[in-house]
Amino acid sequence: MSKLKIGNVELKNNVVLAPMAGVCNPAFRLIAKEFGTGLVCAEMVSDKAVLHGNKKTMKMLFVDEREKPLSLQIFGGEKESLVAAAKYVDENTNADIIDINMGCPVPKVVSCDAGARWLLDPSKIEEMVSAVVNAVNKPVTVKMRIGWDEEHIYAVKNAQAVENAGGAAVAIHGRTRVQMYEGKADWNVIRDVKQQVNIPVIGNGDVATPEDAKRMIDLTGCDGVMIGRGALGNPWMLYRTVQYLTKGELLGEPTPKEKIDVCLLHMDRLIDLKGEKVAIQEMRKHAAWYLKGLKNSAHVRQKINEMETREGLKNLLDSYVEQIEGSKESVIH
Ligand SMILES: Cc1cc2nc3c(=O)[nH]c(=O)nc-3n(C[C@H](O)[C@H](O)[C@H](O)COP(=O)(O)O)c2cc1C
Repeated sequence: MSKLKIGNVELKNNVVLAPMAGVCNPAFRLIAKEFGTGLVCAEMVSDKAVLHGNKKTMKMLFVDEREKPLSLQIFGGEKESLVAAAKYVDENTNADIIDINMGCPVPKVVSCDAGARWLLDPSKIEEMVSAVVNAVNKPVTVKMRIGWDEEHIYAVKNAQAVENAGGAAVAIHGRTRVQMYEGKADWNVIRDVKQQVNIPVIGNGDVATPEDAKRMIDLTGCDGVMIGRGALGNPWMLYRTVQYLTKGELLGEPTPKEKIDVCLLHMDRLIDLKGEKVAIQEMRKHAAWYLKGLKNSAHVRQKINEMETREGLKNLLDSYVEQIEGSKESVIH
């Protein structure tokens, strides 16, 4: 498998961390990078919020040097504001790639003609992506779902529109908008797209293990694998996938202590970023993800939601590790 190159950006491997709102901030992205991920994607930002100089959004545009190469995703429904926001990102951020969101299914986004709404109109895609490509220097990519619903699966046409518009790569999530996150991702459509375009195709959807990543590549021929939910509380999944794809080596799962240590690192980075109060609230979901699959963690997971401080959360997790290390079988098989 050759290395993935997106425009002028060469990646060290073909594993990509999916953009995830509320998750892919510098704290988690840096962890994903340290676990070997070839490309990390930032959580989506609204074009209008960028143009209004929204304080929270401006913070979301910050890219740490150590995270690079990084792709920053914008969404919007109108050409003028999308292009202006892309220009802002191009000229004022440290991102390497500008990604356009064409997959977000939530009503708030699609009702503004943004996100997955475009999937019904390949000519709009070509027009919008062309306008962005012509306005910026960084490579432009698109992340899309395969279609709006089962009757409207225009993935091939839509990806061709991205290619015609000068897009540097396309990531395909093998679900329709109507599916939201239900059902199974259809990797056959990813294969169809790969056969019909010459730009790199990044496959996405339901890659939960390193073996899944290999199966997706074998089935679709895709140039890269994008991993979302499989990496939540589990950056080892990214590392193990990189090792499996590049060396054919299937590494074991981390120990509970290893998981909790990285969870605490994640917590401290999030505190640096957002302050203790907000960070601990956000860490509750992450900590529950880090604990997933570990023995006797149900009780701790419940307790997490009562935690308000760094000290409280750290003590809870440390005492869980102490207790679990005393018992023999720590991972549920
Ligand atoms: C919590 C969460 C937030 C997400 N936010 C975004 C986002 O900001 N932009 C985007 O394009 N996709 C977003 N997605 C979709 C993922 O990038 C990915 O396409 C989807 O989860 C399927 O991949 P997976 O099966 O590996 O999770 C999000 C998914 C989750 C679970």
